[in-house]
Amino acid sequence: MLTIDQRVEVLLKQMSLEEKIGQLNQYNWKAIDERTRSGSLLNEIREGKVGSFFNVSGTEQLAAIQKIAVEQSRLKVPLLFAHDIIHGYKTIFPVPLAEAATWDLDLIEKSARIAAIEASAAGLHWTFAPMVDIARDPRWGRIMEGAGEDPYLGSLIAAARVRGFQCSDLSRPDTILACAKHFAAYGAAEAGREYNTTDMSLLRLWEVYLPPFKAAVDAGVATVMNSFNELNGIPSSANKYLVTDVLKNKWEFDGFVISDYKAFFELIAHGYAEDRAHAADLAINAGSDMDMQSGVFTDHLAGLVTSGRVKQERLDDAVRRVLKAKFALGLFDDPYRYCDPDREKKLILHPDHIKFAREIAAKSIVLLKNDNKTLPLKKDVKTIAVIGALADSKIDMLGSWHAEGDSDVVVTILEGIKAKVAPGTTVLFAPGYQLHGVAGADQIDYAVETAERADLVILTVGENGDMTGECTSRADIGLPYNQDDLAAEIAKLNVPTVVLLANGRPLTVKNLRDSFPAILETWFLGTQAGNAVADVLFGDVNPSGKLPVTFPLALGQVPICYNHKNTGRPLHAKDTPVHASMYSDIPNDPLYPFGFGLSYTTFEYSDVRLNKTAIKNGESLRVSVTVKNTGRLAGDEIVQVYIRDLVASVTRPVKELKRFCKIRIEPGQSRNVEFFLTASDLAFCDQDLNFKTEPGRFVVFVGPNSRDLKQASFGLE
Ligand code: NOJ
Repeated sequence: MLTIDQRVEVLLKQMSLEEKIGQLNQYNWKAIDERTRSGSLLNEIREGKVGSFFNVSGTEQLAAIQKIAVEQSRLKVPLLFAHDIIHGYKTIFPVPLAEAATWDLDLIEKSARIAAIEASAAGLHWTFAPMVDIARDPRWGRIMEGAGEDPYLGSLIAAARVRGFQCSDLSRPDTILACAKHFAAYGAAEAGREYNTTDMSLLRLWEVYLPPFKAAVDAGVATVMNSFNELNGIPSSANKYLVTDVLKNKWEFDGFVISDYKAFFELIAHGYAEDRAHAADLAINAGSDMDMQSGVFTDHLAGLVTSGRVKQERLDDAVRRVLKAKFALGLFDDPYRYCDPDREKKLILHPDHIKFAREIAAKSIVLLKNDNKTLPLKKDVKTIAVIGALADSKIDMLGSWHAEGDSDVVVTILEGIKAKVAPGTTVLFAPGYQLHGVAGADQIDYAVETAERADLVILTVGENGDMTGECTSRADIGLPYNQDDLAAEIAKLNVPTVVLLANGRPLTVKNLRDSFPAILETWFLGTQAGNAVADVLFGDVNPSGKLPVTFPLALGQVPICYNHKNTGRPLHAKDTPVHASMYSDIPNDPLYPFGFGLSYTTFEYSDVRLNKTAIKNGESLRVSVTVKNTGRLAGDEIVQVYIRDLVASVTRPVKELKRFCKIRIEPGQSRNVEFFLTASDLAFCDQDLNFKTEPGRFVVFVGPNSRDLKQASFGLE
């Protein structure tokens, strides 16, 4: 039997130039009108001019399209069907940033696994996920699609998602190709403005923005998508350094690289390509392989190959990579293997998937404040007023990029609360604000009157589901429209109030923190949002989420992250100079730090214990700490380990996350937690862009978040 590589070669030899180029062409199905679909498009498929479609799903439809490719084209090369399965296909899980707040790699992997099971059951072969862009500027709306600000946490999550989508065997009919995107540094758009320029030192690129991509490649990701932005003067799709030198050569990535939507064509607007032919030339010669929707390969690649501008080997290499993915999926053996309508019916919205959606949603919730043990609530409160239009919205709970998510089956926050409370409890509701505009005084008055009639208020405020996602940058990251007016009126009442935040980005909500005793970060939690929120509100689930991203105190602090450098004039040094690195009008401290999240119980950390005062290369350091549950409820705690390299030939951040673990502790019990660090955990990127270690002194910190840490020190010899 021939290997995949051999089968690819046999096929490649039979292909005409046009057929090869066809494999590198992807169309957006939704952008094709009905007439073209039933007319000229059929001919294009028959002539082998299309390699892939995206934005299309459903076994019946996909089988019909596939039939044309494999029965009516000369070489019968199957099509690849793709979709943006970002946090679920039809059963929708929390938005990725929310899932990252679980810090639970098994859960995150399972979420991707179920997404792949549903998507593959609907005929799909490929998802444009995970998005692994590090993001430190909450103005950028796509911060919602990633795992937050930290390269270490982001790398582990990137790998977990790849494993979930692909497993270790792409030939299984319930696995799909993953796509690490957007390569690279898309999250560093200047001023947080979508698609904007990124410009950074290569040191920062290698230390912060590339690690999650490397982790995805190491986990075997099958495809990578270029980012829209330019990086240091060269647009990513035509950036040979990124695509060929780093991704394909240094990291030995053997999958294929797809452009983002029309991004090859956009090389012209960037001022990098003269015209469409030049754009095709630059993109393919940089190492990008497949063209999403700009058609520049279809129109110009043949001429470029004939004239010698593009070498035959480069074209063949691109085609080989695409064909290899199709073989790996088993499509040449059975092009309809993903098109089983019975499987589709059985698996989509399967009760186990819904059950899991509730579990991961509850575990994504972060308790930001809980004065006087306001939470958890009793189920038999006499009258509860649920205030806030978001509490009654189904579609918004799905967040952006919700694939084929079915809003009809979403449990709203209001429904979740009603289903949870005791039979004698009355639940009142008032929207209090407009989801898409400014609320009138009447609407606020009615909400206030409703709240006044209650013994307890649950106030849901935040963003609409589509205020984060692609092209949703905001210059003001406070509560939208006049929700603050409503919050201020509710805060004046003498009724205990719990705030639920719905959002896909950190928000500047100092007023909420200062005015209300309890706040839960509930993001956009997906299909089971309402049940999950109610599980946590009423104590059936003790919250354990921790922020994967810093919440700034004020917009002026962004971009912001916990692992910044110290500067020559740090604010907290004992002998702080008058001219310290600080703002004159606000503190440097954020509203909530990275890694922060409370529980309904309390945990006490012992001092940090080390088994050695110094380690050598090849040795490991045991870092231990005892964590005691000092409250009355069982709870999960995410114990975090950070290090600081005190002096190095390249300055190091004040803290860097290196390890974490999630442990369950019963009330009154203690658990000893051990972590092992080796010299490689202390490595950093030097000026020649090599990761290396240097002897010296280090501080290791352990604690419940990036701020409240105990420390010890050790050396590397
Ligand atoms: C543009 C987005 O940037 C990308 O993430 C997405 O996968 C494609 N459009 C396809 O929808």
